[in-house]
Amino acid sequence: MANPSNSLNKILSGLLPDSFRYGVVALFCGSLLLSCSSGDNENKATESQEQTGLAHQQEQAPVEDDGKGIGPVSSIEVSADIDDALAAEGKTIFEGKCSACHQLTDQKIVGPGLLGVTEKRKPEWIMNMVINPEEMTKKDPTAKKLLAEHLTQMTNQNINEKDARAILEFLRQNDLQAQGK
Ligand code: HEC
Repeated sequence: MANPSNSLNKILSGLLPDSFRYGVVALFCGSLLLSCSSGDNENKATESQEQTGLAHQQEQAPVEDDGKGIGPVSSIEVSADIDDALAAEGKTIFEGKCSACHQLTDQKIVGPGLLGVTEKRKPEWIMNMVINPEEMTKKDPTAKKLLAEHLTQMTNQNINEKDARAILEFLRQNDLQAQGK
């Protein structure tokens, strides 16, 4: 590429004093650089907007129900054994915030009896239901059916993830004990 600052320099050398000339050349080069680099940035910005736009569309495309429900819990590990201390914490919360509507047998009160729930649902689903019941009964196919059956919206009991995990452990313990384990 021809060096633009050289030819500019030649033109200006006839017209201007040296010091001024260098100033003008410097300015010219600076603006060239600037315009190039800002052009680059704009390209990148559009590119990344396009990419996020795509990712967004993919997210909103209908996905098959993975049985994990809708809420903050996307993946948790549960071991085969029960953590008794955690289950005991869950029991305390359950008695304070859940037992008015749920029994630990298969008997319904306001909500369904919770015996066997950890065999029917994924652990993530149970935690999301406990943390986020309103959105679940609007959007999750299984929770929608439950609402249609029980005709009462489960209330949001302000359960955080840690407490929901403890409740899950308690429900797992309840189910294992019922199997005589
Ligand atoms: C006001 C009554 C009420 C309270 C309080 C309540 N629930 Fe529920 N729960 C329901 C109802 C009713 C349903 C069925 C879905 C619906 O109609 O919203 C349900 C559904 C569930 C389910 C799904 C059951 C299944 O068969 O899949 C779980 C798990 C659950 N609740 C756990 C809890 C826990 C844990 C608490 C305490 C933190 C709690 N609920 C507090 C009424 C309640």
